[in-house]
Amino acid sequence: MAVASGVVAQPLFRAPVGTRDILPPESVRRRRLVSVFADLADRSGFELLESPIFEELGVFQRLGANNDVVTKELFEFFDKGDPPRHLALRPELTASVCRAFAEHRPTVPWKIWYSGPQFRYERPQAGRYRQFDQVGVETLGTDDPYADVEVIGLGVRFYEALGMRQVRLQINSLGDAESRPAYDAALADYLQNRRGELSEQSRVTLERNPLRVLDSKREQDQPVIAAAPVMADFLSGASAEHFVAVKAGLDSLDAAYEVSPRLVRGLDYYTRTTFEFVADALDTAQNAVGGGGRYDGLVEELGGPPTPGIGFALGVDRILLACDAEGAFGGASPPVQVFVVDVAGGLNAAVLCDRLRQAGLGVDRAFGGRSMKAQMKRADRSGASVAVIVGPDEQAAGTATVRDMRPGGGQRQVPEPEVVVAVAEMLAGAAP
Ligand code: HAM
Repeated sequence: MAVASGVVAQPLFRAPVGTRDILPPESVRRRRLVSVFADLADRSGFELLESPIFEELGVFQRLGANNDVVTKELFEFFDKGDPPRHLALRPELTASVCRAFAEHRPTVPWKIWYSGPQFRYERPQAGRYRQFDQVGVETLGTDDPYADVEVIGLGVRFYEALGMRQVRLQINSLGDAESRPAYDAALADYLQNRRGELSEQSRVTLERNPLRVLDSKREQDQPVIAAAPVMADFLSGASAEHFVAVKAGLDSLDAAYEVSPRLVRGLDYYTRTTFEFVADALDTAQNAVGGGGRYDGLVEELGGPPTPGIGFALGVDRILLACDAEGAFGGASPPVQVFVVDVAGGLNAAVLCDRLRQAGLGVDRAFGGRSMKAQMKRADRSGASVAVIVGPDEQAAGTATVRDMRPGGGQRQVPEPEVVVAVAEMLAGAAP
C-alpha cells in the first residue's frame, strides 16, 4: 500500500548486534533439546534452580579480577535506587548458583540444574553471540571424585541422547590450593623467559594472567605452549589421587576422554578437575560445546561456608550448530494429528477443536473463511493424519466429515457428538 504523503516511514528495527530471534521451527527444536536435558537431569537427582537474570556486580567479580568475562564482557548497569545499585546481566550461572547456595544454605549435596540465557559482550561471529543459552548442572557440598564422574557422565550421555557422535571429552586437573602456587610460578617464569617468541596479544595476557596464555589459539604461540610446564607434574598427593579416581570412574562408564594437560578454562575459579566437550564438526575457533570443572573456593568467596562444587554448562546454540553439521537431532516439531477445515463459519469449528484438544489430540485449524481448496492445502502441509471438515451441508445436518489424509484413506460423515471417537478410531487404525 502506498504511504500517504506526509507520513514519515518508520525505521526498521533489528535485533541488537550479537542477538537474534529464534523463529520456529528452530525455537521448537531448542525447547526439545532443553527437555531432553531436563529429563536426564531429573532422572539423575538434579533439581531445577531458577535464579535472576541479573545480579549485583560483585557476584560476578568473583569470577576473576583479570578475567575478560569480568573486565570486558559484562553488560553492567545501575538501577534507579537511591543510591543506585551496580548490577550486571549474568555472563554464566555458576556464580549465581554459589550466591544462592550461600544465601539459602540448603542441605548438601545440593544438586541443581538450570537453563536459560547468558550475556557476554563479545565480538559476535558464527557460534559466538552476546546472548546465548546454556543448560547446566552443579553439585555443591561434596568433593567425592564420583560426584565429578556423575556430572561429567551426564554431559556425555546428553550428547549421546541427541545422537551426536563427534564430541570429544577433554579433561585435566588444575590442582588445589596446595599445588597451584608452585605451578603458577613455574609457568610464569617459563613464559617470561620465552616472552619474545609470544604473539603481542599473549604478551599482554601474560602480564595479567599467565595461565590464560595456554588457551591461545594463535599459530605463533603454539611452540611455546607445547613445551610449557604441565600441571600434572605439580599436583599435590591429594589432587593427583582425586584425578586418578575421576579417570577410573569415567573408564568404568565407558566414557571416552583425552587427558589434555594444557587445558585451561576461560574462568578463573577452577580447581582440580576441569573438562571441555569439543565438537569436531565445528570450526576450531568456536568448537567448545560445553565445559566445566571444580570450583572448591567459590562459595566461600561469595560469603558462604567452605563448600566444594563441581558442574558444567553446555552451550545450546553451539550444540545445535554442531548437530546441523553432523546431521544429528533434526528435532522437527511433531506434526499435529488433526486439522479442522471450516467452510461453514460460525463456532462449530472452534468447539470441535476444543473438544479434540481436551481429548489429548494435537489439533490445528484454518481461519478467515478461506476456500475449501486453500484450507485443504493447509491441512496437507500441517502433516495431520486426519482432517475434520465442517461445511454448510454438514452444519445443517449437525454432522462433520472425518477424512483420513493418508494415501488411499477414506472418509465418513458422523454426527458431531461422535467426532472425537471417530477421529480416535481413524488415528488408531492402520493407514489404509
Ligand atoms: P564457559 O566455558 O564459559 O563455562 O561456557 C560454557 C559453554 O557455553 C561454552 O562451552 C560454549 O558452548 C557456550 N558459550 C560460552 N560463551 C558463548 C557465546 N558467547 N556464544 C555462544 N555460546 C557460548 C561456563 O559458563 C561455566 N559456568 C561452566 C561451569 C559450570 N563450570 C562449572 N560449572
